[in-house]
Amino acid sequence: MTETISYDVIIIGSGLAGLRAAISAASKSKKLSIAVISKVQAMRSHSVSAEGGTAAVLFEDEGDNQESHIYDTIKGSDFLADQDVAELLVENIPFEIYQLDHWGMPWSRRDDGRIDQRKFGGYSFPRATYAQDKVGFYEMQTLYDTCLKYENIDFLNEWFCTSVLSNSNEFCGLTAIEMKSGTFFVIRGRAGIICTGGAGRIYNFSTYAYSSTPDGLHMAYRKGLALKDMEFVQFHPSGILPSGILITEGARGEGGYLINNQDERFMKRYAPEKLELAPRDVVSRSMIREIQEGRGFKHESGMSCLKLDLTHLGPEKIKERLAGIREIGIKFSGVDIISEAIEVRPVCHYMMGGIHTNIQGGTELSGLWAAGEAACNSTHGANRLGANSTAECLVWGNITGENAANHALRRLDTSLTIQVEQVTEEEKRIFDGIFRGRGEANPYEVRKHLTDIMDDKAYVFRTETSLVDGLRELRELKSQTWKHVDDKASEYNTNFVNVMEIDSMLDVAEVVLVNALNRRESRGAHARLDYPSRDDEKYLRHSLTYHTSAEPKIAWHPIAFTRYAPVERKY
Ligand code: FUM
Repeated sequence: MTETISYDVIIIGSGLAGLRAAISAASKSKKLSIAVISKVQAMRSHSVSAEGGTAAVLFEDEGDNQESHIYDTIKGSDFLADQDVAELLVENIPFEIYQLDHWGMPWSRRDDGRIDQRKFGGYSFPRATYAQDKVGFYEMQTLYDTCLKYENIDFLNEWFCTSVLSNSNEFCGLTAIEMKSGTFFVIRGRAGIICTGGAGRIYNFSTYAYSSTPDGLHMAYRKGLALKDMEFVQFHPSGILPSGILITEGARGEGGYLINNQDERFMKRYAPEKLELAPRDVVSRSMIREIQEGRGFKHESGMSCLKLDLTHLGPEKIKERLAGIREIGIKFSGVDIISEAIEVRPVCHYMMGGIHTNIQGGTELSGLWAAGEAACNSTHGANRLGANSTAECLVWGNITGENAANHALRRLDTSLTIQVEQVTEEEKRIFDGIFRGRGEANPYEVRKHLTDIMDDKAYVFRTETSLVDGLRELRELKSQTWKHVDDKASEYNTNFVNVMEIDSMLDVAEVVLVNALNRRESRGAHARLDYPSRDDEKYLRHSLTYHTSAEPKIAWHPIAFTRYAPVERKY
């Protein structure tokens, strides 16, 4: 049975971008009804696990300046960022920091009471604004509390969205399953914003929550919207073993350093100036080189690694500023960072790519925006600097919330017509194709195999051979008959949800591999051993990927240059 409900603005995803968008839309007009739809409880969104900081220029009186933040971001991106977008980020983020402060955010402070900032990789000035090492948690709490003040925001927690509906190339709503009842809904909407986060669970060794699957990206992709720059996957230098849980870059910002099995601070050989505070792509590559050249450690899990040493910081500083990672180390690695160096290894942490948007967060479908990690508005290009992600979520949460609200207000008197055939087609896809599917292979084994392929074949260094092999294996996996749901319950059928998630993971992993193969150069986080140099002549452009009934179709999109010509990146 299908039921229908209606909202003016529908926000899919309840992380930082989604909550910020909701506040922005709700404060625009009390006339607007706003839904925040999430497949989890809002405060379980993956944004709560952001640790280290939000980058912003706050101390111009001490020498920092916005031009420097813009340049660091563009250089960090290996010149693939749209420069006007980087400018917009940098200009808007100080406002967001103070706005959060006014809403009650417990920023860490200096002795004089001013908001403090710490060092982070790739920046010329300490500009990561922080709250101990639980920045995402406190930002989420502050935004969630603020959302609750608005009577026109409804939270639809534990709803799984399955498709985008349109009419005459205009957004008009979604289909979704209310997990509590298993009911299939049409949610009519005048404007929508996809804020479903990144797709990093397509890797096994990953800092992402298990729920971080590419459902939002997949909805957009199946709707015919492009995914942009999907070959660029960020590997954060410090995932602990064996789980991959994040040890914040803030640990290095506070003075921690990386050592090899010779007890040597090896980063001096790769980034003599910035050392451990070079951007993540540089540090991760250096770590893998150390391991390949025999200077790594062997963790008891069998994985190779380096060590992050924080013991010299002293218990007081660690307890005050890095309490979260101390707890993580003790609970998940059995290591107390106060007294022992902790084993770490590069781990999938962020996708620079996402749903192709313009500078305003607008997608190729009128009435639909995307923000946060789900979007690729091209702020980060080929490599994001740490602390620029929470910044992006806040800035474009605000921008897209306002844009969507204005759009909905303009359409307030228009009646929304749903194309019934789109709903019927979607019902067939998920209920006949998946819920009543007759696949034989175990979907959870398919998921494990898929994430192993990504770990093995599309990690920090890639080659033609690894990517061709990876794509072949992935396509074999995709072509197996595997779609089926053993649990036939209607209520809270997480087995059904998991199979839909795996479906999205397979398609999005294919897009990553196809593009990684197609970009025959090394730029930012995409490092090809067989094409070790950057090739600006051929590849100084964004990749776009469109869904077809056969293979993904690739197109190219120009970069916006406003100020800086590409130069070699040195740190
Ligand atoms: O290391 C970290 O705290 C991560 C920050 C980020 O990805 O921006």
